[in-house]
Amino acid sequence: MIITILLSLLAFLTFSPSTTALTVHRSGDTLPYALTPWQFKGEIDGNYFEYNGTIEQAFAAYAALHPSFNLTAYLDTPHTESAHLSNTTTLSRRNKDGRSCCRNNAQGWKYASTDRIQEGIRYLQRFDICDVGPRTCNQISCSYDSAIILCNDNNYGIRPNCRYIASYATDLVTWCNWEMFTQVCGQEFDTDHYNVVVRKPDRHC
Ligand SMILES: *[C@@H]1O[C@H](CO)[C@@H](O)[C@H](O)[C@H]1NC(C)=O
Ligand SMILES: *[C@@H]1O[C@H](CO)[C@@H](O)[C@H](O)[C@H]1NC(C)=O
Ligand SMILES: *[C@@H]1O[C@H](CO)[C@@H](O)[C@H](O)[C@H]1NC(C)=O
Repeated sequence: MIITILLSLLAFLTFSPSTTALTVHRSGDTLPYALTPWQFKGEIDGNYFEYNGTIEQAFAAYAALHPSFNLTAYLDTPHTESAHLSNTTTLSRRNKDGRSCCRNNAQGWKYASTDRIQEGIRYLQRFDICDVGPRTCNQISCSYDSAIILCNDNNYGIRPNCRYIASYATDLVTWCNWEMFTQVCGQEFDTDHYNVVVRKPDRHC
Protein backbone atom coordinates (compact mmCIF):
# COMPACT_ATOMS: atom_id res chain seq x y z
CA MET A 1 0.00 0.00 0.00
CA ILE A 2 2.62 2.48 1.08
CA ILE A 3 4.85 1.35 -1.76
CA THR A 4 2.03 1.89 -4.24
CA ILE A 5 1.42 5.38 -2.90
CA LEU A 6 5.12 6.19 -3.06
CA LEU A 7 5.37 4.80 -6.58
CA SER A 8 2.31 6.70 -7.63
CA LEU A 9 3.77 9.88 -6.20
CA LEU A 10 7.05 9.16 -7.93
CA ALA A 11 5.28 8.48 -11.22
CA PHE A 12 3.35 11.67 -10.79
CA LEU A 13 6.42 13.77 -10.06
CA THR A 14 8.31 12.14 -12.91
CA PHE A 15 5.67 12.40 -15.60
CA SER A 16 3.55 15.40 -14.67
CA PRO A 17 5.97 18.14 -13.71
CA SER A 18 3.64 20.91 -14.87
CA THR A 19 0.66 20.10 -12.62
CA THR A 20 0.44 20.37 -8.85
CA ALA A 21 -0.18 17.59 -6.36
CA LEU A 22 -3.50 19.20 -5.48
CA THR A 23 -4.85 18.36 -8.93
CA VAL A 24 -4.46 14.66 -8.19
CA HIS A 25 -6.46 14.85 -4.99
CA ARG A 26 -9.20 16.90 -6.61
CA SER A 27 -9.59 14.45 -9.47
CA GLY A 28 -10.71 11.83 -6.92
CA ASP A 29 -8.83 9.15 -8.87
CA THR A 30 -5.95 7.74 -6.88
CA LEU A 31 -4.98 4.93 -9.21
CA PRO A 32 -1.19 4.95 -9.46
CA TYR A 33 -1.20 5.29 -13.26
CA ALA A 34 -3.60 6.56 -15.87
CA LEU A 35 -5.86 3.81 -17.16
CA THR A 36 -4.86 2.61 -20.60
CA PRO A 37 -6.79 0.09 -22.72
CA TRP A 38 -5.89 -3.51 -22.05
CA GLN A 39 -4.16 -5.11 -25.04
CA PHE A 40 -6.01 -8.40 -24.92
CA LYS A 41 -4.03 -11.18 -26.65
CA GLY A 42 -4.73 -14.88 -26.42
CA GLU A 43 -6.91 -17.81 -27.32
CA ILE A 44 -10.69 -17.83 -27.26
CA ASP A 45 -12.28 -21.15 -28.16
CA GLY A 46 -9.00 -22.33 -29.68
CA ASN A 47 -8.47 -19.27 -31.90
CA TYR A 48 -5.89 -16.56 -31.33
CA PHE A 49 -7.54 -13.16 -30.88
CA GLU A 50 -6.37 -9.61 -30.20
CA TYR A 51 -8.41 -6.68 -29.01
CA ASN A 52 -7.77 -3.40 -27.19
CA GLY A 53 -10.36 -3.01 -24.45
CA THR A 54 -12.01 -5.01 -21.68
CA ILE A 55 -12.47 -8.77 -21.67
CA GLU A 56 -16.23 -8.28 -22.19
CA GLN A 57 -15.60 -6.16 -25.30
CA ALA A 58 -13.06 -8.67 -26.59
CA PHE A 59 -15.45 -11.62 -26.23
CA ALA A 60 -18.25 -9.60 -27.86
CA ALA A 61 -15.95 -8.73 -30.78
CA TYR A 62 -14.92 -12.37 -31.07
CA ALA A 63 -18.56 -13.49 -31.05
CA ALA A 64 -19.40 -10.98 -33.79
CA LEU A 65 -16.66 -12.51 -35.98
CA HIS A 66 -17.66 -16.10 -35.18
CA PRO A 67 -21.46 -16.39 -35.37
CA SER A 68 -21.42 -20.02 -34.24
CA PHE A 69 -19.61 -19.13 -31.00
CA ASN A 70 -21.93 -19.58 -28.00
CA LEU A 71 -20.61 -17.26 -25.28
CA THR A 72 -23.02 -18.54 -22.61
CA ALA A 73 -21.97 -22.13 -23.19
CA TYR A 74 -18.29 -21.15 -23.35
CA LEU A 75 -18.39 -19.30 -20.02
CA ASP A 76 -20.19 -22.26 -18.44
CA THR A 77 -17.47 -24.71 -19.49
CA PRO A 78 -14.69 -25.21 -16.93
CA HIS A 79 -11.38 -24.01 -18.26
CA THR A 80 -8.50 -26.46 -18.44
CA GLU A 81 -5.13 -24.80 -18.11
CA SER A 82 -1.88 -26.09 -19.45
CA ALA A 83 0.36 -27.72 -16.81
CA HIS A 84 2.70 -24.76 -17.01
CA LEU A 85 -0.06 -22.30 -16.14
CA SER A 86 -1.29 -24.49 -13.29
CA ASN A 87 2.20 -24.43 -11.83
CA THR A 88 2.34 -20.66 -12.10
CA THR A 89 -0.95 -20.42 -10.25
CA THR A 90 0.19 -22.71 -7.46
CA LEU A 91 3.34 -20.72 -6.92
CA SER A 92 1.55 -17.37 -7.11
CA ARG A 93 -0.99 -18.24 -4.46
CA ARG A 94 1.60 -17.65 -1.76
CA ASN A 95 2.08 -14.06 -2.88
CA LYS A 96 -1.05 -12.25 -1.81
CA ASP A 97 0.03 -9.34 0.30
CA GLY A 98 -2.87 -7.61 2.00
CA ARG A 99 -5.83 -5.60 0.89
CA SER A 100 -7.49 -2.29 1.50
CA CYS A 101 -11.29 -2.02 1.48
CA CYS A 102 -12.84 1.24 0.31
CA ARG A 103 -14.68 1.95 3.55
CA ASN A 104 -11.30 1.95 5.34
CA ASN A 105 -9.31 4.14 2.99
CA ALA A 106 -9.43 7.73 1.91
CA GLN A 107 -9.40 7.19 -1.83
CA GLY A 108 -13.06 8.00 -2.35
CA TRP A 109 -13.62 5.08 -4.72
CA LYS A 110 -17.24 4.14 -5.32
CA TYR A 111 -18.75 0.69 -4.94
CA ALA A 112 -19.36 -1.70 -7.84
CA SER A 113 -22.20 -4.22 -8.15
CA THR A 114 -21.15 -7.62 -6.79
CA ASP A 115 -23.25 -9.47 -9.40
CA ARG A 116 -21.49 -7.65 -12.26
CA ILE A 117 -18.07 -8.27 -10.74
CA GLN A 118 -18.91 -11.98 -10.43
CA GLU A 119 -19.71 -11.92 -14.16
CA GLY A 120 -16.35 -10.30 -14.90
CA ILE A 121 -14.70 -13.03 -12.82
CA ARG A 122 -16.41 -15.68 -14.98
CA TYR A 123 -14.99 -14.08 -18.12
CA LEU A 124 -11.49 -13.83 -16.65
CA GLN A 125 -11.62 -17.48 -15.62
CA ARG A 126 -11.98 -18.42 -19.31
CA PHE A 127 -8.83 -16.64 -20.46
CA ASP A 128 -5.18 -17.54 -19.87
CA ILE A 129 -2.88 -14.55 -19.57
CA CYS A 130 -3.67 -11.12 -18.11
CA ASP A 131 -0.56 -9.32 -19.30
CA VAL A 132 -0.03 -5.69 -18.39
CA GLY A 133 2.79 -3.33 -19.37
CA PRO A 134 5.30 -1.58 -17.10
CA ARG A 135 3.88 1.01 -14.65
CA THR A 136 0.42 0.68 -16.13
CA CYS A 137 -3.17 0.20 -14.99
CA ASN A 138 -5.50 -1.66 -17.35
CA GLN A 139 -9.25 -1.95 -16.88
CA ILE A 140 -9.41 -5.63 -17.77
CA SER A 141 -13.12 -6.08 -17.07
CA CYS A 142 -15.97 -3.61 -16.98
CA SER A 143 -19.74 -3.90 -17.35
CA TYR A 144 -22.67 -1.98 -15.89
CA ASP A 145 -20.34 0.42 -14.06
CA SER A 146 -18.42 -2.32 -12.30
CA ALA A 147 -14.71 -2.58 -13.07
CA ILE A 148 -11.79 -4.92 -12.37
CA ILE A 149 -8.48 -3.10 -12.80
CA LEU A 150 -4.99 -4.60 -12.88
CA CYS A 151 -2.11 -2.25 -11.96
CA ASN A 152 1.57 -3.12 -12.45
CA ASP A 153 4.09 -1.14 -10.37
CA ASN A 154 7.12 -2.83 -11.97
CA ASN A 155 9.37 -1.30 -14.59
CA TYR A 156 8.73 -4.36 -16.73
CA GLY A 157 5.61 -6.01 -18.11
CA ILE A 158 4.07 -8.96 -16.26
CA ARG A 159 2.01 -11.97 -17.43
CA PRO A 160 -0.04 -13.30 -14.52
CA ASN A 161 -2.62 -16.00 -15.04
CA CYS A 162 -6.11 -14.49 -15.50
CA ARG A 163 -7.67 -17.09 -13.19
CA TYR A 164 -5.28 -15.96 -10.50
CA ILE A 165 -6.14 -12.30 -11.13
CA ALA A 166 -9.83 -13.28 -10.95
CA SER A 167 -9.15 -14.81 -7.52
CA TYR A 168 -8.19 -11.34 -6.26
CA ALA A 169 -11.58 -10.02 -7.32
CA THR A 170 -13.16 -12.99 -5.52
CA ASP A 171 -11.18 -12.12 -2.38
CA LEU A 172 -12.41 -8.54 -2.58
CA VAL A 173 -16.02 -9.74 -2.90
CA THR A 174 -15.43 -11.88 0.22
CA TRP A 175 -13.69 -9.25 2.34
CA CYS A 176 -14.63 -5.84 0.93
CA ASN A 177 -18.36 -6.20 0.35
CA TRP A 178 -21.05 -3.83 1.57
CA GLU A 179 -24.82 -3.82 1.93
CA MET A 180 -25.18 -7.60 2.42
CA PHE A 181 -22.68 -8.53 -0.32
CA THR A 182 -24.54 -6.58 -3.02
CA GLN A 183 -21.69 -4.07 -3.45
CA VAL A 184 -17.91 -4.38 -3.49
CA CYS A 185 -14.95 -1.99 -3.56
CA GLY A 186 -11.30 -2.52 -2.66
CA GLN A 187 -7.73 -3.22 -3.69
CA GLU A 188 -5.60 -6.33 -3.11
CA PHE A 189 -1.82 -6.47 -3.47
CA ASP A 190 0.71 -9.03 -4.63
CA THR A 191 4.29 -9.27 -3.35
CA ASP A 192 5.37 -9.14 -7.02
CA HIS A 193 4.39 -5.45 -7.07
CA TYR A 194 1.07 -5.52 -8.80
CA ASN A 195 -2.45 -5.09 -7.45
CA VAL A 196 -6.07 -5.62 -8.39
CA VAL A 197 -8.74 -2.96 -7.84
CA VAL A 198 -12.51 -3.55 -7.88
CA ARG A 199 -14.68 -0.44 -7.92
CA LYS A 200 -17.12 1.67 -9.90
CA PRO A 201 -15.16 3.13 -12.85
CA ASP A 202 -14.71 6.87 -13.33
CA ARG A 203 -16.12 6.52 -16.82
CA HIS A 204 -19.44 4.85 -17.47
CA CYS A 205 -19.18 1.37 -18.96
C1 LIG B 1 -3.78 -2.12 -29.74
O1 LIG B 1 -3.06 -0.94 -29.45
C2 LIG B 1 -1.68 -1.05 -29.77
C3 LIG B 1 -0.98 0.21 -29.28
O2 LIG B 1 -1.66 1.35 -29.66
C4 LIG B 1 -1.52 -1.25 -31.27
O3 LIG B 1 -0.15 -1.40 -31.61
C5 LIG B 1 -2.28 -2.53 -31.66
O4 LIG B 1 -2.24 -2.71 -33.05
C6 LIG B 1 -3.72 -2.47 -31.20
N1 LIG B 1 -4.33 -3.78 -31.44
C7 LIG B 1 -5.54 -3.91 -31.97
C8 LIG B 1 -6.02 -5.31 -32.15
O5 LIG B 1 -6.24 -2.96 -32.30
C1 LIG C 1 -26.01 -21.40 -26.01
O1 LIG C 1 -25.72 -22.25 -24.91
C2 LIG C 1 -26.71 -22.20 -23.90
C3 LIG C 1 -26.19 -22.97 -22.69
O2 LIG C 1 -25.54 -24.15 -23.07
C4 LIG C 1 -28.00 -22.73 -24.45
O3 LIG C 1 -29.00 -22.72 -23.45
C5 LIG C 1 -28.43 -21.88 -25.64
O4 LIG C 1 -29.56 -22.41 -26.23
C6 LIG C 1 -27.31 -21.79 -26.67
N1 LIG C 1 -27.67 -20.79 -27.67
C7 LIG C 1 -27.61 -21.05 -28.98
C8 LIG C 1 -28.00 -19.93 -29.88
O5 LIG C 1 -27.26 -22.13 -29.41
C1 LIG D 1 4.90 -28.45 -12.59
O1 LIG D 1 5.32 -28.69 -11.25
C2 LIG D 1 5.66 -30.07 -11.01
C3 LIG D 1 5.95 -30.25 -9.52
O2 LIG D 1 6.64 -29.15 -8.98
C4 LIG D 1 6.85 -30.47 -11.90
O3 LIG D 1 7.22 -31.81 -11.68
C5 LIG D 1 6.45 -30.26 -13.35
O4 LIG D 1 7.56 -30.54 -14.20
C6 LIG D 1 5.98 -28.84 -13.60
N1 LIG D 1 5.44 -28.72 -14.95
C7 LIG D 1 5.77 -27.74 -15.76
C8 LIG D 1 5.16 -27.81 -17.13
O5 LIG D 1 6.49 -26.80 -15.44
